[in-house]
Order: sequence, then structure tokens, then C-alpha cells
Amino acid sequence: MPTVTLSTSKPTTARADVLILGIRGDEDKAELAATLDLMGFTGEKGQTVRFPSGGLAKAPVVVAVALPEEPTAEDLRRAAAKGLRAATNATSVAVALHPAGVDEVEAIAEGLELGSYRYEAYKSTKKGAAKKPEITSAVILTPFARQTTATKAVERAATVAAAVNVARDWVNTPPGDKRPADLVEAFSQHAGNDVKISVWDEKRLAKESCGGILGVGQGSDSPPRLMTLTYEPAKPVSHLALVGKGITFDSGGLSIKPGASMQTMKLDMAGAAAVVAATVAIARLGLPIKVTAYACIAENMPSGRATRPGDVLTMRSGSTVEVHNTDAEGRLVLADGLALAAESKPDHIVDVATLTGACVVALGQHTSGVLGNDDGFGERVLAAAKTAGESMWPLPIAEEMKGLVTSSSIADLRQHNPKPYGGTLFAAAFLREFVGDVPWAHLDIAGPSFNEGGAFDYTPVGGTGTGVRTLVKLATELSGS
Ligand code: BES
Ligand code: MN
Ligand code: ZN
Repeated sequence: MPTVTLSTSKPTTARADVLILGIRGDEDKAELAATLDLMGFTGEKGQTVRFPSGGLAKAPVVVAVALPEEPTAEDLRRAAAKGLRAATNATSVAVALHPAGVDEVEAIAEGLELGSYRYEAYKSTKKGAAKKPEITSAVILTPFARQTTATKAVERAATVAAAVNVARDWVNTPPGDKRPADLVEAFSQHAGNDVKISVWDEKRLAKESCGGILGVGQGSDSPPRLMTLTYEPAKPVSHLALVGKGITFDSGGLSIKPGASMQTMKLDMAGAAAVVAATVAIARLGLPIKVTAYACIAENMPSGRATRPGDVLTMRSGSTVEVHNTDAEGRLVLADGLALAAESKPDHIVDVATLTGACVVALGQHTSGVLGNDDGFGERVLAAAKTAGESMWPLPIAEEMKGLVTSSSIADLRQHNPKPYGGTLFAAAFLREFVGDVPWAHLDIAGPSFNEGGAFDYTPVGGTGTGVRTLVKLATELSGS
């Protein structure tokens, strides 16, 4: 991640390899008008052109980025990252995107830090091979540079972006290198002493009646875990419980997936990654809110020990569940995590999960679904997502879903939708059975958690870290900070 600083320098005098210059209209073009016109710069939002500054600025190269007349925070996040991407071969940039206030400064810093992410842990470093240059420093140009609120905003951006980036690392890690015990280790390493950690192994899970997590994990040679992270400041104004789906690899189990659908299933712990990264970030920000995060970690594998379709699991809540499809494993591990969360009587529960392919069909690859048992709380989650710059959209838990989840002929609940419609809604209706009367929101991040296409804006290829920014923003709002 580049080090981001602030300066009151003018764009023309800032020292850097590349000047990233936001252009809102004719006025910003100034002396560059002729050059920009000749380069085919139309001003369409997000367009970038790169050219030598020819002495007009101290930086030898200019990247002009088109901005709307009044850019939103999200416009600026994206513009900063677009500018960075176009600044090939540079190691330092000066960023003149005309932030209107401190929130905009924060957004620019986030865009730079999120947009410079690369995952290179598994690239061999050939001796003597030239390393691709990396941007190590970025200076944001703004008249607010000397205000403490601006410095604080830049610090906040660094904490949040680091959280998103570590969640990306965890998602990108190959599944064989993040089996349940490994993932627990990686989470613990990251948490350090900032939060309290407790880990339940398979024996403890059995003692605690976590039949959902055990049922999903029992087919794997690497047994499941439940990891709890607690951040408790001195005078918390509220208690937020987070629950994350942490399937380190989803083969589907005995209801095995076709090969092609399995290819990206290392992503299936992205929910756990998001709640853990967000909790640690909330602790580092020192927000006055208690946060308890439950990471429900298992590997979903077929084997002679695996749960079979037709089996009945007894969950932490005491309810029994008839399994119809072992590939609908996420709701089973989450059910135990949600029940545990509800037992502690928090003010709110949010779960984050790569839960259903149906949600990707409904909302596409870049929008998460938001469902729950409390419209007011759902609105607050959606508002947090909007300011954080994460695309989320509400879906209902339609009334008929209640009858479907209770339609097992031999158990209390049916795990899998008997109908081929409304898969996301059914899954949420199933989860609702475990949260009691605590206001709860469920984020289905199956689409946005992993970018199978090319990098765009500040979104890299692979793990995206989606959910982290919304959770931190929500905790900020709930804590009145
Ligand atoms: N992990 C998958 C959901 C998923 C699909 C995430 C695509 C990201 C991209 C989940 O465990 C799953 O397999 N869901 C099934 C549920 C079905 C069997 C009811 C699905 O969506 O097909
Ligand atoms: Mn599955
Ligand atoms: Zn899954």
C-alpha cells in the first residue's frame, strides 16, 4: 500500500513522477485545453489520458482524469484508482482531484490504497528479473492539508483499506493453504492483541452442540473451527454481533459441484474474512461499540464420513434440520454462528456470506443482497453501504418462505428449497429461524466477493474484500461516531 500524505502544494509545483489531475470542466483544463482536446479527451466520467507535462508542471507526466462537475465520494475513489492505474512505471504520484471536504479526502486516500492492491504471494521471484515498479508514495493536494480532521481522515482510510486488502489476501489464498486450522492461524496473526480471540475445535464444537458446523465439516480431513473475536471498549454504546461464512473450500460435498463451478470456491470464506477484517479495523479505530465476530469455518468435502442428503442435524439452537443438498452448506454453519450470537443478546446481528448463486442471478456480480427481519435496520445497513461505496440492494423474505423452511416431514426445518425459485429468499428465511428477535441483516455477497473479470476502478482481479467497508461504516454509525 502506498504511503498517503497531504500537501497544500499547487498541482504545477508538486514533486512526483506523475501528477494525477482531475478535470471537471473547461476551467480545470486551463493551459492543457489544447493538449487534452488533441488527445481526444471528451470529459466523459472516468476517462483518463496520459501525456508528458512539457514543463507545465514539475511532475514529468500528467494523467488527466475526467470528473463530473460535483463528484461524489465514490466518483473520487474510482478516479483516484483509475489515475493510479494509468500512472504506469511511476513510484510516486501527486493527486489533484479537488476534494470538496474532508470526506472527499478520505475517499481519495481509500481509492489510492485499494487501487494499488496486488496479490503476488505465489509469483516466483526469478533472480535478476526486474520487478514491476510499485507506487510507494502518494500525496493528495488539498487546501485542507494542515487540518487535523484531514490527517485523521487519511489515517482512517489507511486502517479501512488495510482491512479490505487483508480480506482480499485471505480470499486469494489457495484453498489447500487455508484449511480450517490455517485460516484460524491467519486470522489470529492479523488480530494480534487488538481483539480477544477464542477458538473452538471439533471436540469443543461437539460439546457445545454445534451440529451445523460439525455436519458440514465432517467430510474433510481438516476438522472445522468456530473462531470468536471480541472487541470491547471501555464504555460501549451498543453491541454489534457479526457472523461470517468461512467455508475454506466448497466442493459441494456429496452433492458435488461440477468442475467449472468449483474453480473459484476458495472464495467461500469471504464472509468470514470480511467480518474478521472489519472487527479488527473497528478495534484499531477505537470506535465506542462492542463487536463480537463469529467466523464459522469448515471445509465442505465429500468422503466416507461426509454428511449425506437425508441426514438430520441437531443445531446449536436445538432445532433439527433435514439435509437435502450438501452444497447448501453455508446456511448450516451460519445457523450455529447466528444462534450463538443471539444467545449473547446483542443489539444487532449482521451476517456476511457467499450464500447463493441465485443472488448473483438476481442482482448480478457487483451487487450484494440485503435481507433480514427488521426493515429499519436493513435501511441503516443499506445507507452505510451507500456511503462506503459498496453496491447493495434489498430483497424480501417473502411470506411463503416460512412454510417452505418448516416443510420437512421428519425434522423441524428443511435445509433446501423444495422449489427452484427464490433460492436467496429461502436461505434467508432459514437463517431467520436462528436469530430469535434480535434485529438482524443478512448480506449475500456471492456476486461481489470475487472478481473473475479484469481489474476495474479500485477492484482487483480475485478477492475484492467486499463487505468490510460497509461493516466499518455501520459500526461507526451505530456507535454515533
Ligand atoms: N458457495 C455457494 C454459493 C456461491 C455460488 C457463491 C457462486 C459464489 C458464487 C453455496 O454454498 C452454494 O453452493 N449454493 C448453492 C445452493 C443450492 C444448492 C441451494 C447454489 O447457489 O447453487
Ligand atoms: Mn455450496
Ligand atoms: Zn458455499
